[in-house]
Amino acid sequence: MKAESIRPIRALSGSVEVPGDKSISHRYAMLAALAEGTSELRNFAAARDCHSTLSCMKGLGAGVEVQGTTARVTGHGLHGLKSSWRTLDAENSGTTIRLLSGILSGQSFTTKITGDASLQKRPMKRVITPLREMGADIRARDENFPPLEIRGGKLRAIHYETPMASAQVKSAVLLAGLYADGETNVTEPAATRDHTELALQEFGAIVRKSNRTISIEPDPKLHAVSLDVPGDLSSAVFLISAASLFPESNLYIGNVGLNPTRSAILDLFAQMGASVQITHLQSKGGEVVGDLTIKGTQLKGGLLSGNLVPLLIDELPMLAALGPYTEQGIEIRDAAELRVKESDRISALAENLKRMGANVEERPDGLRVLPGELHGAEIDPRGDHRIAMAFAVAGLGASGETRILDSDCAAVSYPSFFAELRRLSEG
Ligand code: S3P
Repeated sequence: MKAESIRPIRALSGSVEVPGDKSISHRYAMLAALAEGTSELRNFAAARDCHSTLSCMKGLGAGVEVQGTTARVTGHGLHGLKSSWRTLDAENSGTTIRLLSGILSGQSFTTKITGDASLQKRPMKRVITPLREMGADIRARDENFPPLEIRGGKLRAIHYETPMASAQVKSAVLLAGLYADGETNVTEPAATRDHTELALQEFGAIVRKSNRTISIEPDPKLHAVSLDVPGDLSSAVFLISAASLFPESNLYIGNVGLNPTRSAILDLFAQMGASVQITHLQSKGGEVVGDLTIKGTQLKGGLLSGNLVPLLIDELPMLAALGPYTEQGIEIRDAAELRVKESDRISALAENLKRMGANVEERPDGLRVLPGELHGAEIDPRGDHRIAMAFAVAGLGASGETRILDSDCAAVSYPSFFAELRRLSEG
C-alpha cells in the first residue's frame, strides 16, 4: 500500500481545475444509459466511483466509451437495459448502488449488485424500504447490506417521506418513479443536493418541486444530451482549506460547481473569515459554475448543526481537521450520518486528530475539536478518501512529517489530489 509523506509548507499558490463533480457524473451516466442515443459527457469525473457507475451501466447493456475526461454513453431508451449475467460491482460507491437500486427496481429482470468491503457494511434498508413499497422484490444480507438481489417490474407510485435527509434515498425513489404507474412524490426532512432533479430535467423528464416535496411523472422519453460536468466543489474544498491556512497563499480554482444545495460550505467559510472570491459565475446544464480565488486568513471556527449538516455533509471531515487551526475550534452536531459513510468518519476523525496531538471530544452525533498546535503523525484513513485528503491538509500546517497510509484511496473521488497538492505547495 502506498503512503504519502506530508511536510509543513509556507503557502499554497497557483492555478488548478479540480475533476468533474462526482454526484453529477453518476447521475448523467445513469440517465444517459436510459436515454435514446449517444450522450457526450465532458469533464466527466475522474473519480473511481463514477467509473464504477459506468461499468455497471455497461454491464446493463449501455454503450460506454471513455476518452480522457469525455464519456460517451449510448442508451436504448427507458426500457432498453438488458439483464447482466454478472453481479454488478459498485466497488466503494454508495451513490452507485443506492441510485441504481431505484432504476433496477423498474426493470423486467433480476439483478445482483454488490461492492467492496466498506460498501458491504453500509446500510441499504433506507432504499429497500421505499422500493419495496413501490412493489420491487429486493433481497439483502441481513435485510440491510449488499449484496442486493433486485427483482424489478412495474412499480406503484407512492408518496414517500424520507426519514433522513439523504439525496441518495430521494434519488433512488425518483429514479424508480420513472417506471411507476403514476406521479411519485418524495418529501425530505431537510433540503439535500438536487442534482438528480436537475439532471432528470436536462434529459427530458418532468420534475416539479414544492417546498420539500419533489414530484416526478412516469414514463418520459429521455433524450441524449451533450453536457459539461462542473468541477467538484467537494474536492475543491481540500485545496480551499489548505490555501486558507497560510497568509501568503494565492490560489485560483477554475470551473467549480456552485449549485446552491452544495455551496453552503462557501457561506460557512465566509462566516469563518476565509477569503474566497467568486468570479465568472454562469449556468451550465442547469448547474451554476464559477471560478474561485483563495487567499490565506485566520479562520474563526464555529458550530455546525441542524439543517446545515446535509448541505455540507461531505465537507465535515475537512472542517473537523481544520478545527485545531481555528480561533474557537470546530463543533459538529446532528451528524450521526457520518458514522455510515465510507468509514465511521466521526471515529476516524477523532482517532487521527488525537494522533496529531489535537484536543478532541467524540460524541455519538459529532465531535468537538479545540484550537491547538498539531504535530505530524501516521494517519490511518481507514480506506476513506475524504479522511486521507483532510489529514493531508492538516499535515501541511503541523510540525514534522505526517504520513498518510493507503493514500491511493483518494482516487475514489480525486485521483490527482496528492500530485496537485505537491505542485501547488510552496515550501
Ligand atoms: C451523495 C449524497 C450524500 C453524499 C455522497 C454523495 C449523492 O450521501 O454524502 O457523498 O451524490 O447523492 P447521502 O445521500 O447518503 O447523505
